[in-house]
Amino acid sequence: MTRDAWWRDAVCYEIHPRSFADSDGDGVGDLAGARARLPHLRDLGVDALWLTPFCPSPLVDAGYDISDPTGVARDVGTVEDLDALTAEAHALGLRVLVDLVPNHTSSEHPWFRAALGAPAGDPARARYIFRAGRGPHGEEPPNDWCSAFGGPAWTRVPDGEWYLHLHAPEQPDLDWRNPEVPAEFERVMRWWLDHGVDGFRVDVAHALFKARGLPDAGPGQHQDPLRNHLMPYYDQEELHPLYRSWRALLAAHPEGPPGSAAAHDRLLVAEAAVFEPGRLARYVRPDEMQQSFNFAFLECDWDQAALHRVIEDSARAMESVGAPVTWVLSSHDSVRPVTRFGGGSTGMRRARAAALLMLALPGTAYVYQGEELGLPQAQLPDDRLRDPVWERSGHTERGRDGCRVPLPWSGTAPPYGFSTAAPSECWFPQPEDWGALTVRAQQDDPDSVLALYREALRIRREHPATGGGPLRLLSESGASHLAFDRGTGMRCMVNFGPGELLLPEDAKVLLASGPTSGGRLPADTAAWLSTAPARTGAAGESP
Ligand code: NOJ
Ligand code: MG
Repeated sequence: MTRDAWWRDAVCYEIHPRSFADSDGDGVGDLAGARARLPHLRDLGVDALWLTPFCPSPLVDAGYDISDPTGVARDVGTVEDLDALTAEAHALGLRVLVDLVPNHTSSEHPWFRAALGAPAGDPARARYIFRAGRGPHGEEPPNDWCSAFGGPAWTRVPDGEWYLHLHAPEQPDLDWRNPEVPAEFERVMRWWLDHGVDGFRVDVAHALFKARGLPDAGPGQHQDPLRNHLMPYYDQEELHPLYRSWRALLAAHPEGPPGSAAAHDRLLVAEAAVFEPGRLARYVRPDEMQQSFNFAFLECDWDQAALHRVIEDSARAMESVGAPVTWVLSSHDSVRPVTRFGGGSTGMRRARAAALLMLALPGTAYVYQGEELGLPQAQLPDDRLRDPVWERSGHTERGRDGCRVPLPWSGTAPPYGFSTAAPSECWFPQPEDWGALTVRAQQDDPDSVLALYREALRIRREHPATGGGPLRLLSESGASHLAFDRGTGMRCMVNFGPGELLLPEDAKVLLASGPTSGGRLPADTAAWLSTAPARTGAAGESP
């Protein structure tokens, strides 16, 4: 491993293929559509892309219920389309990551079908977690575990046994202590490496092993993320030798087609919903994965003290194991920042400021499709919701579909260049008022969110102080602004308001998320400053 491996300061763009770009007019985004839009990623200036699952799936959970882990779903394309996408991305200098979903399969996976067809105690059931129930007739679930999507984590099959699913019932959990399971995922990883991918984003990386004996979890499950690592179904010790073996596999597997990453530089990024920074850091020790999404940052309110703490704690924890912090503001699972930070013009101002904050921090960053357009969360009619959370919460939680509607590319009405299909044929409806948010509408507007992201990424690439270098926090927790220096000569300042903030007199504004006339930074605005190398003194309210 070298200090300057590409993944230490890369910006990676998340593509949710069915909602990105449709090439064949069926209303569903596909791999050929994504390939045709790669110039958008090149112009944006990212280093890599991550494709969420595109494998055959009954789509109970947007593709995170996989029935054939080495195939490509018919509506999304073919393996050849993936090869072409990967080759073209590499030609543009973009790395390609794909999702690996090892915690569960679809209930339509041949393994689970075989398990259901087999009697209790049969080896076909031992790839999953089948157990007898509690109560005189086994009519109670084997323990008190809850699904992350709401409701019990167990479903009973006709012969009376129960099987575990930490998500939807159509996503049965695998038993990672059965040697057939790791062997199968080694096969899956090798398959995609042979197709030129540069690494994997590992889904629910904190959940693969369950505590032996499956003890009760007690009350309050899924309510306090800071306690996630204490749950008997999360963060078990056996995960770490497994991830060490995967890292070694990636480094040893023969190199892929020309343009793919060198074997030692392939990437594993953990989707681990572990919020205690020290526990999260364990996933990225030098011989395990290289990145773990910083969900504490994603879930942070627009609040100086909260952000200050997350930045300080995560930087310290990751530094202790020599890993980069992996900043993330949005994903296909979260409420879009514009909406989360208050909606309307306030939400937009804050989302712009948050982007500059994130992209100035040391380490790596993930940008979710549409974040660079400042899209708000879409409001979908009840009858178009697909997220299992909607049903499992008894229609109290709308789920994640509002951030998964198709991207607006051009034009003034749906489907905004996403597809040639009629809007009613598209797999999610798009809002009627997104005409000003399309890529086409923003690309030549210097004040657009797209222009802000492009410029931020350009400076990030070119300025020697950005990327992986050191961070020096200058502001106190609880102050009305956040300020930090990157290396020498670059400072990021974010004003949380309500008043204006005076910028340092001799500072040159490299980029700002809003107007900075008169040397003042308005509320909910961030600026990147070029400061003289000697200026490293602490910042007050008017530094
Ligand atoms: C995390 C994925 O990001 C999410 O979309 C999915 O529902 C769960 N893992 C289960 O696979
Ligand atoms: Mg299509």
